[in-house]
Amino acid sequence: MSLTGKTAIVTGGARGIGRAIVQRLAEAGADVVIGDFRRDEAEATASEIQKITGRQVRAVRADVTDLKQVEALRDAVLQAFGKIDILVNNAGWDRLMPFLKTTPELWEKIIAVNYKGVIHTCYAVLPHMAERKQGSIVNISSDSARVGSLGEAIYSGSKAAVVAFSKTLAREHARDNIRVNVICPGLADTPLLSEIQQDPFGQKVLGAIVNFVPLKRLAQPDDIAPLVVFLASEAASYITGQVTSVNGGLTMVG
Ligand SMILES: NC(=O)c1ccc[n+]([C@@H]2O[C@H](COP(=O)([O-])OP(=O)(O)OC[C@H]3O[C@@H](n4cnc5c(N)ncnc54)[C@H](O)[C@@H]3O)[C@@H](O)[C@H]2O)c1
Repeated sequence: MSLTGKTAIVTGGARGIGRAIVQRLAEAGADVVIGDFRRDEAEATASEIQKITGRQVRAVRADVTDLKQVEALRDAVLQAFGKIDILVNNAGWDRLMPFLKTTPELWEKIIAVNYKGVIHTCYAVLPHMAERKQGSIVNISSDSARVGSLGEAIYSGSKAAVVAFSKTLAREHARDNIRVNVICPGLADTPLLSEIQQDPFGQKVLGAIVNFVPLKRLAQPDDIAPLVVFLASEAASYITGQVTSVNGGLTMVG
């Protein structure tokens, strides 16, 4: 599963699951650009992982909800590396709340980050990949997209949109030798999860769910990252439009 000579973009790579993905891709030989709006954290992550792996790892400040910033991210990567082989859409955000307590402002924010962010990066990067007849896109959705999740009505919908969007792109761009796959994490031990648990409702719901995980623990970011490396690599050259959960068995969708 060597990615030597490949160039990857990872959105939301400053921390959490994204950080583990950046490290695993670089360990497999890829040069990686983190696109994240946490500039300082992203730069620190990039320089630490560059030191550990010896690959080129850089950070570009970009908010995925803004198409112009995403296009600037793409241009920066093309200027530095001349090509983009791998796109990992990992940036995401959520807060737990019963649907009827949510507001239109919250809907907008959740849909903008989790769904429109993925639309933006794909819109910006696909023409380049199609021209080269080569590319692998891995979108980080959520198990909630497949089975719903209490307190996450809008988030689950936005992540389900990512699944349908990814399958459609997989069909449209198979002729361009571009593969598009989806990973659905279950509950993962990340800064996002800690932030959600600061709220009593979030703590109650997530605390209850953990008890139903057959493998009896939360995911660590490193439980998810190796699957990204596999899907990005030539070892997965016959896999496209697929959705895989990494969730300790919490749900087992057929
Ligand atoms: N942690 C979980 O339990 C869990 C479960 C299922 C799915 N996920 C998904 O996994 C992905 C990573 O989540 P995480 O738990 O590591 O979260 P995290 O908050 O710990 O890390 C997310 C990263 O994305 C960045 N980001 C957020 N909004 C952005 C934006 N608009 N533009 C650019 N960067 C942005 C953040 O700065 C951060 O570095 C997300 O898509 C999330 O929805 C997480």
